[in-house]
Parts: sequence; structure tokens; C-alpha cells
Amino acid sequence: GKLTQEDLKRVAAHRAVEFVEPGMALGLGTGSTAAHALDRLGDLLRAGALPGVAGVPTSLKTELHATRVGIPLLPLGGDRGPARIHLSIDGADEVDPDLNLVKGRGGSLLREKMVEGAGERFVVIVDESKLVPRLACTGAVPVEVIPFGAPHTLGLIRKVFDGLTGFHARLRMVKKDVEEDTLFVTDNGNNIVEMFFKDGIHGDLHDISDQLLRITGVVEHGMFLGMATTVIVANKDGTITVMD
Ligand code: A5P
Repeated sequence: GKLTQEDLKRVAAHRAVEFVEPGMALGLGTGSTAAHALDRLGDLLRAGALPGVAGVPTSLKTELHATRVGIPLLPLGGDRGPARIHLSIDGADEVDPDLNLVKGRGGSLLREKMVEGAGERFVVIVDESKLVPRLACTGAVPVEVIPFGAPHTLGLIRKVFDGLTGFHARLRMVKKDVEEDTLFVTDNGNNIVEMFFKDGIHGDLHDISDQLLRITGVVEHGMFLGMATTVIVANKDGTITVMD
């Protein structure tokens, strides 16, 4: 039968888990694709196939999921944290031809960047719908901001980038079952500014990153530049393309 997008996410996830070896400390990603990797890891651990494997979760959701499927958890750093993170496995919202990513449309970009930036190898798992010619083609670049003065920080972001054609930014809201809209809150208690670029980012990604990170009140953003070491793409026909 025809493969669903969910099937493709599972195909990519299972291929990535083949890189996991006994004794490894892993970075455990967040999102619907990474969830398939957690399930697979749990199955292999329970079968006794991967002794000594444990993981650092990139979100509260992943922490719960990993616990449910029996993956031992580790903190990031400290006496009880792993000396090395050998391999991280996570999905992405977009992948460009240079393996730069947009992540965090699920809201977990800060912990993801901390964990995946600390690891030795970062394997990204996507179905082919995530491949883009330029970042921000298909949606927002999320930016995590401190709640204090979040509308002010949004104003600063607008001031820096308003010159770019087709740019706009707004605070992410959650639609709750109440009259007024509520700001989206991350696992870290912060808010998210969404930056939109009509037709994607044509400028220098590192420049935009630097400018964002210089704004007081900005904690981190969802462009993961030069971080992915391997991208596993599940194509519509069920074949796999490995980019590295
Ligand atoms: C979580 O904040 C994100 O970075 C996800 O890793 C990314 O959105 C991919 O999620 P899906 O696998 O659900 O598309």
C-alpha cells in the first residue's frame, strides 16, 4: 500500500537508531519523528540489545516518553551527566541544501540546541517534505524570549529586521478555551517570537543569527547552523537518502 507521512517518519527514525551502539549516551529529540526513534530505542533496550544506553531529553514531553518506554535518563552536565554525548537524534522543521535547519516549531528549540550542540554527532531524521531550498520557506523561525518585556523584545526584533522584504514577526499564542488569547510558554517558562520571511531567508544566516543573539531578551533561536552531521531523508517511495 501507499506509505503515509507517519510511515516515512518511522522509516527515517529506525534508520537513525541503527547508529546507536551499546554504552552510548544519546541526545533524545522532540517531535513526532523523534517519537518513533524513542519507541524503537525502547523496544531494543527492553530486548536487551543496547545495554548501557541512556539519553538526555530535549523536552519535558520527551522526558515523559522516554521514561514510559524504559530509556534511562541523564542530566546535561554535572557529576551525574554523561562525560560525552555520542549521538543525538532529532527531527527538524526544515533542512536546507547545506544541512542547516529550522527547528522548534514545536517549541523545544532551546533544550534541543543545548543538547545537540553538546553532542559529537547529530543525526536529523525527516521525510522529504522537510527539504527546502532556503530556510524559513515553509513557516516561521521561532525565537525564544524572556517573558519579562516580551512585547518590547518583539519590538527590538522588528527594528533589526524590518528592512528585509516580506519580513514580519509576532508573539506565538496558544488558542485556549477562553475568550482572550494566551502567550505560548516553553518548557523553560519563556515565550516564543515567530519570525516570517516571505519566500525564505535570502540573507546571510550567520549574520541574522548574530544579530538576533545580540538582542537583550532573546534567549536562543531555531536556526541550527552547521550542527547536523547527518540528515536521513525518507522519500515518498520509501527509499532513504543519507546526506552528510
Ligand atoms: C520541536 O521543537 C522541534 O524542533 C521538532 O524537532 C521539529 O519541529 C520536528 O518535529 P516533527 O518531527 O513533529 O515534524
